[in-house]
Amino acid sequence: MPRRLEIAPSVLPVDFSRLGEEVLALEKAGVDRIQWDVMDGRFVPNLTFGPDVIASCRPHVSVPFEAHLMVEEPDLLAERYVEAGCSLLIVHAEATRHLHRTLGRVREAGGAAGVALNPATPVDAVRHVLDLVDLILVMTVNPGFGGQSYLSTMEPKIAEVAALVGDRPIDIEVDGGIGPTTVAGAAAAGANILVAGSALFRDPEGLEHAVSDLRARADAARLP
Ligand code: DX5
Repeated sequence: MPRRLEIAPSVLPVDFSRLGEEVLALEKAGVDRIQWDVMDGRFVPNLTFGPDVIASCRPHVSVPFEAHLMVEEPDLLAERYVEAGCSLLIVHAEATRHLHRTLGRVREAGGAAGVALNPATPVDAVRHVLDLVDLILVMTVNPGFGGQSYLSTMEPKIAEVAALVGDRPIDIEVDGGIGPTTVAGAAAAGANILVAGSALFRDPEGLEHAVSDLRARADAARLP
């Protein structure tokens, strides 16, 4: 059974002075979930959303929220982001000394658990925690900023994750530089959840076209 294909916009490129309206526009454009790029200025050289910002947007839309925690020691924050309305928390394998324990804490807090792998991090980092994860995120850029170029060298790694996961109920997500010219490679390699930021907002035909076009390109590229 092929995994459900989903388009997950990153909130990073929105006009933060109109955050609520922008989140509503994303839902209306037909996205399947919304990804909040949480950055702490330590794990990555950038700073973004606290849980209260996410909580303020939660009542205005019904699509699921996921928090991509690009933060050191994610255990310290996990519960706050679940309380803010994120149903899935994605922690970086590189950001915790005890990944198995961190994932357990995310689940104890009531969140589904995902693990993100930076480009240089081997797939083996998740081999022994597959029983604790609902999603594996293969970063196709180095984290910290939107608008970077897609790393096609990550496609064999996406395929390696797909082979490791097999038919387990674990989603395979990619994030970074996903757009009309790169989404097919990621989907063909095995990704079923596609995070896109700048590509959605630079489509001259608007958000709805950008979302449906990305979905169609990904769907066409997936192996039968
Ligand atoms: C990197 C961020 C970005 C963002 C997507 O830390 O995670 O990858 O979500 O940005 P684009 O789609 O503009 O590369």
